[in-house]
Amino acid sequence: MNNTTKQRPIGVFDSGVGGLTNVRALMERLPMENIVYFGDTARVPYGVKSRATIETFTAQIVDFLLQNEVKALVIACNTIAAVAGQKVRSAAGNMPVLDVITAGAEAALQTTRNGHIGIIATSTTVNSNAYARAIHSRNPDARVQSQACPLLVPLVEEGWLDHEVTRLTAREYLKPLLADDIDTLVLGCTHYPLLKPLLREEAPGVTLVDSAL
Ligand code: DGL
Repeated sequence: MNNTTKQRPIGVFDSGVGGLTNVRALMERLPMENIVYFGDTARVPYGVKSRATIETFTAQIVDFLLQNEVKALVIACNTIAAVAGQKVRSAAGNMPVLDVITAGAEAALQTTRNGHIGIIATSTTVNSNAYARAIHSRNPDARVQSQACPLLVPLVEEGWLDHEVTRLTAREYLKPLLADDIDTLVLGCTHYPLLKPLLREEAPGVTLVDSAL
């Protein structure tokens, strides 16, 4: 890699502010790198939109980042990775593309002791089955139970990170996963790490896996 390539930024993108949890992790590990972040706060949430809409919005974001001469792309949105990951890789050509679903699936398998992994994510991510596929392609014996949590992103965007409404909502979503004896919970949406303290209290004894780690 020559100097000019070295100085080119890494492009990180998400449907909103959630992907900043990935930016923080990148800055800690790669402090010398420049980063261009695109959060589509004008059109968030993506998790309830159709595949076609998400693909169109994603293509626009990738075009913008390519115009900014990025040298690598990080899809810091599980929903985008789930439904448009392939499209991003085609548009990027030879450029490296990393995504949070691959990272989250690998981290969950390294973490679980009893092989029961819970996933919480947006409806689009859960319906795509992308996490279960990523986990089962690495370990077919793992048991994966997914729960769509469509109300959590609006609550995070509202800043209600430690609010009774958020707590009761999370408690309701977690019930079937805890009943299934999961020992590992993947925060399959980049907004959810902001709810970590609350989720830790609502899922005692369960290890939280944050794909931004
Ligand atoms: N941050 C996105 C994700 O990781 C979800 C937010 C949204 O619905 O746009 O899935």
